[in-house]
Formats: sequence, structure tokens, C-alpha cells
Amino acid sequence: MQGRIPENILDDILARVDIVEVISGFLPLKKAGRNFKACCPFHHEKTPSFMVSPDRQIYHCFGCGESGNAFKFLMRYERLDFPEAVEALASRAGVVLPRTENFPGQPSSGITTQLYKINELAASFYSANLNAPAGLKAKEYLLQRGIRQETISALKLGFAPDNWDSLINYLRSKGVSLGILEKAGLAIGKEGGGFYDRFRNRIIFPIFDIKGRVLGFGARVLDNSLPKYLNSPETAVYTKGKNLYGFNLAKDGIRENDFVAIVEGYLDFILPFQEGLKSVTASLGTALTVEQARFLKRYTHNVVMVYDADTAGELATLRSLDIFIEEEMNVRVVSLPAGLDPDLFVRKEGIAAFKEKIASAENLFDYKLKVLKSRYNAKEIEGRAKVSGLMLETIARFKNAILKSEYLKKLAQELNLKEEALLEEIRKVKTEKAYAYPQTKLERKTYHTNATEKLLMSLMLEENGLVSRIRESLDLEDFQDERISRIVSIMFNLVDQGKQVEPQILMNHLGDDISELVSESVFLTQNAPASEAHREKVVSDCIQRMKNERLKLERQRLHEQIKAAQHVGDEELLSRLTEEFHCLIKKKAG
Ligand code: CTP
Ligand code: MN
Repeated sequence: MQGRIPENILDDILARVDIVEVISGFLPLKKAGRNFKACCPFHHEKTPSFMVSPDRQIYHCFGCGESGNAFKFLMRYERLDFPEAVEALASRAGVVLPRTENFPGQPSSGITTQLYKINELAASFYSANLNAPAGLKAKEYLLQRGIRQETISALKLGFAPDNWDSLINYLRSKGVSLGILEKAGLAIGKEGGGFYDRFRNRIIFPIFDIKGRVLGFGARVLDNSLPKYLNSPETAVYTKGKNLYGFNLAKDGIRENDFVAIVEGYLDFILPFQEGLKSVTASLGTALTVEQARFLKRYTHNVVMVYDADTAGELATLRSLDIFIEEEMNVRVVSLPAGLDPDLFVRKEGIAAFKEKIASAENLFDYKLKVLKSRYNAKEIEGRAKVSGLMLETIARFKNAILKSEYLKKLAQELNLKEEALLEEIRKVKTEKAYAYPQTKLERKTYHTNATEKLLMSLMLEENGLVSRIRESLDLEDFQDERISRIVSIMFNLVDQGKQVEPQILMNHLGDDISELVSESVFLTQNAPASEAHREKVVSDCIQRMKNERLKLERQRLHEQIKAAQHVGDEELLSRLTEEFHCLIKKKAG
């Protein structure tokens, strides 16, 4: 996983940061004996089962199995990839990383780094223009729409001057090449050669990622001309449908309030946020994507959709409902009065009225039924069949059987249909996933773990010296449990390299399922300190038991083979196997 980042650097970083400090930057940790605990940020719970060990520098959740070291925590919590998590902790620890160009997971980090930098420069240019005389009209436009100066600064809003080459000239003077400007989507190549600025005479809305890097731009006209908005094209750093506008500012509010209001447009984010709704984000037109839903899910499971009351908004809302249901998130819907979007509503009715609307948002079922009833005539049988068919497509997506059956019951009542008929129909519904996208989270598997091997492994984790001692008495083949044998083989390797076998370092080498086993046993054994003599006895018992187990398995295997040889009458094989069998029995006696 860590690919080309040298291991000694990873170890160095881990040695210098304190996981308790890292995690308490995000969660309130409470002391619990030698450990700290909190409610797990990775699944919903009311009593804390998320543990952090200052001694071993790892975390483990006894509720959902999520586990790891400081790198892993940042990856999960801040949704970073491994190189990014390493980078974040390295700078915290004051460790200088070798050039990052070739880190795995960032094959084109050369170009992406450049694009971030150019976008940053462009954003500053646009912002300076908004505050210069040339930007007066644009500034007035924003102020007249109720956006205050502090908001303009926080969102780094800007203005693209009414020229063909203002940005090009500015960035050229900074040494940026035209080719890369085009790759950033900021300059457009002319047919006869030459380039011109993509955005001209428009208000600029930089789009940030969660770390505050500028990914791209939206640009609005100052009057009623069309197109109203221009956006950055897809670039190496900007993909439509993968970002959420305003999320970088709203993420803490979203987590704190444990819900998010999703709106459509730039201004629909800006006004409510400015006026005090801190858990809001904008999908920037169109329906929400699965990626956006999964991204949000890390912060909250509770979503309120506040899309425009027009047909396009209704359609986008309906499509998004299905996505949220498949992601097992709770979704409700606000219908604003016709002609009002969140921006207008807040300016007209105030933020309190808007929050009120959100608090009384409609259940997704009621919303969809209402929309469908307004489109089809539910007084006629055909209309009811149509409405029920479309409702079933949504209901079929619930993974929870109770929800599914309760909604079926409700639908039968609402449309005055027989529940059995609906049951029959729902079986026919194929919820083909309109959103083919690989599941990122694998189902949690259940393992049968070999108890003896597990005990021995936890002792090795506790007492480093044991690893070499056990290496002398056992080989990897003595471990029958696949996961444990993987862990032990890494322990052996670390010892070979003259390194300490620390759980947090071990975890750099382990996948999720395996790392969980390590952290679990660390937390379970640490409260039962054993005396030296007792431990020694336990260790030799374990070793003996495992050797016996291996012999037993080998005997079984030979026994099977002997039976098979007898069956086919292969005398030569039979005598060889019988001899082997006798050797095995002697071995046990010896
Ligand atoms: N949009 C876009 N391109 C367009 C029109 C719209 O990218 N030509 C996106 C923008 O992100 C916009 C959102 O869709 O914010 C919603 O569009 P719309 O409701 O038409 O605009 P508003 O956000 O209401 O913009 P304003 O209030 O400034 O008129
Ligand atoms: Mn609007």
C-alpha cells in the first residue's frame, strides 16, 4: 500500500506524532483507564466503543471494527488517500518527505500540483479584480444580491474583466505556459492559433475541495444574458459531480448538526450559509451523484433536499432520493413555494423561516407520492397503477426489510390498493442501478479465528522479545489461521530487519480485515498484565498445542491419502504413505 514512500520515513513520522493528539483534533476523547474513548465517527452509536491507545498508538472500534494507526485515521476521517495522509502527518511532525511526484494513487501529481497552483493564482487575480475599480459593477451586483463583504472574502469571489486576455497576460507574467493554462481550462485555443480567456466579464465563484484547494470555477453573467453560468471544463483536478460547493466551509457544521441541506446553486448555498445555516452545501445543478452521496455519508446520514420547485428540480430530487436510499441514508425533502429558490426564499422570508422549512421537511415517501399524484390521475385505476409502479421502484431500494414492508403497507393504504398485489408487483421490480459504481466498503466478513494462535499473536504484540523466540520454535506453516499467519510473517520480517514489532507499524502493511484483528487483540490483552512465569507457561502451551494441531492435520491428510491409495490399489504409493505416517507418529512421541 505504501508503495514508494520509504518505510523508514513512515516509521519516523509515526514515531513523532501522537495519535491521541491527532484524533482529538477531530473528536472529543475521554480518558478511559490507559486508553481514550469516544463515540465512533465511522458508524452511528450512542455509547462509545471507539478506543484509542496512547501506548500502542492505534485505534479500534469494538462496534464496527474500524481500526488502524494515525495514517489510517486521517485517510478515513478526512477522506485522504495514503500519500495525502502521509503528507499531512509529515508536515505536522516536521519530517521532510522526498519528492512526492511518484507517489502511488497520484500518477499525474506533477500536473495536478501545477493545476492547483495555477487555479490558486487565477482565483487571486479574479479576487483582486473584484476589489479594483474595474470590478465595481460586479461588486455592486453581489452586494445588491445581499452578499456581504465578509462572505465575498470567505468564498474568495472574484471578477473576470471584460477583456480577451487579462488572465492570460497575468499568468504569463507569472511564468505560466499557455499549454498548461489550457489544461487548467482557463484559456481556450483559437482556430487560427492563439488563445483567449474562457471567463470574461463574469462574477467568479472558485470551487474548493475539502482542503481548500481551488479545483475550478463557476462564472455568472451580471445581467440576463445567456448562458447564465459558465463552468470550468473537466480537468485533471476538476470532475463535475464529484464536488460539493461550500463543503469546505460547512463540513464542521454538517458534522455538528448531523444533517446537511443540499441545494442546487452557488447563491443557494451562499445566502443561507451567510445568514447562519451552517450545514448546507450545493450540488451545482443537476441531480446528486452517488459519489457525492457517499462523500456526505462520512459526515452525516441525514439529508434534506432543497431543490427548486420547478420540473427540473423535482426530477433531480426524485433521482437523488433513490441514491440516498441505496446508500441507506435518511432523506427528506423541502418544497419551496413556486418560483422561489433557497437564495430568494432566505432574502424574502429570512433564515428563521428557512430553517423552519427544513425542520418540517417532508418524508421522502410523502414527497414522491405528492409529486406523482400531481402528474397522474390517481382517481383512475390506470393512474394508480402508474403511481404505484413508480413508488415501488423507490421502495424496492430499501435494504431494510422492515422499512420496505412498512412503506408497502403505507402505499397500499394511500392508493387504496391491496397489499398482496403490491407485494407481487414489487418482486417484479428490477432496481437496476442507474449508478454503476464500485462499492467502496466491503461487507464485513465474519471469520473464525483460531483461539490459540490469536492468543500467541497477542502475546507477541505485547512483548517484542517473544517474536524471535517463537520464530525459533515455530514456522509459518504452524499457523493455520490465514490472517494470523499473514500478521506473523510480517512480524518475522520486521524482526529480521532489526525493527520493533509495533502494532502501528505493522498496520502499514495490513488490509482492513487483518488490521482489525491486531487492534482488537491489543485492546483486549492490555488490561490483563500477566506475570513473567505465567506468560512463559502460556507461550509454551500455545506452541505445543499448535504443533499438535499441525501434526493432527497432517495425520488427517495422510490418512485421507492412504485411503485413496488403497482405493485405487496403488501399492507403491501406499507403502510410501504408510512409512510417512509412522514417522509422523514417532515425531509426536519424540
Ligand atoms: N448552472 C450551470 N450552468 C447554467 C445554469 C445553471 O452550471 N447555464 C448551475 C449553476 O451551478 C447554478 C445551478 O445550476 O447555480 C442552478 O441553476 P439556476 O437555478 O438556473 O441558477 P441560480 O443558482 O438560481 O442562479 P441565480 O440565482 O444567480 O440566478
Ligand atoms: Mn437563484
